[in-house]
Amino acid sequence: MAKRTQFVPWKTAGNKTESGLTADDVVRTTGWVFNNETGTALTLGDFVATGEKEVRRYMRQFELPLENLATQTLLEIGSGIGRMTAAFTNLCGQVVAADIDAAFLERCRETVAKHGRPERLRTVHVADGRSLAISDKSVDVAFSYITLQHCERTDALSLTNEAVRVTSDGGRVVLNYRSWVPLDVLLVPLGMLMRALWKLPRAGKVLASMRWTTRLGWQANRLGPDEVIGSLKSSSAWSRVAKASVHHSPRLARKVKYAEVAVAPLKRVNRSHWWLSLELK
Ligand SMILES: C[S@@+](CC[C@H](N)C(=O)[O-])C[C@H]1O[C@@H](n2cnc3c(N)ncnc32)[C@H](O)[C@@H]1O
Repeated sequence: MAKRTQFVPWKTAGNKTESGLTADDVVRTTGWVFNNETGTALTLGDFVATGEKEVRRYMRQFELPLENLATQTLLEIGSGIGRMTAAFTNLCGQVVAADIDAAFLERCRETVAKHGRPERLRTVHVADGRSLAISDKSVDVAFSYITLQHCERTDALSLTNEAVRVTSDGGRVVLNYRSWVPLDVLLVPLGMLMRALWKLPRAGKVLASMRWTTRLGWQANRLGPDEVIGSLKSSSAWSRVAKASVHHSPRLARKVKYAEVAVAPLKRVNRSHWWLSLELK
């Protein structure tokens, strides 16, 4: 079992995917950790269809034209079992899928073999949860969705820097984070309690495999735009940024103290989420 408690739900779900289940069964038993859907009739096909819809929407919203992607390399940080990765391989020249759980990556390759273009896929295990074994400036687009909120705060900031490092000059970085909402007054302490309970020898494993207890504990940080941008600015990564923008839910505006960063609402963004979009020089 991984040392840090925020790894527990992924390790637990990852172990389940290794227990000889069919791809459809994996979606029925662990799919909810990726798209929050449950049901005995779910199939891998349904699962990747939700990913494809979202991929197309985000590519449109962040102005990443499909005709450009066709010759580009895209990095997906936190690919899971390939819900979105299959669509990325259908759209991009090359895809690098990175995840903290090696078992997920194995299933990701299987998902892409069934619903995508396996010859375009490379997987990278993020063994330490914070660094990417990928060369500098080797991808055109770095993308991450509902992943950085599950990392320890310093790991999320490190992966943000890593995303810039591995993206080539003129490339794009599009990353999703979770920040504070009023309900966090309750959710944050409950999450801390749940992560502490996951350390219990037997009960911990049972709790970490249950949907609602997992959902309480798995958001390991809240990061606002100023913290993320401030961290980038304190490193050499910021000198490579030509244009930065923050996108939030139309229902909950986010403020940014850095005047050079554009801030705009984006349709269908969850109130607790926000996106950082960077264009590199
Ligand atoms: C909620 S799932 C989202 C997966 C995928 N983006 C999707 O939308 O289907 C979060 C993913 O992040 C991965 N993850 C969590 N912490 C990570 C870390 N520090 N580095 C890389 N991946 C991580 C988990 O293993 C899991 O696959």
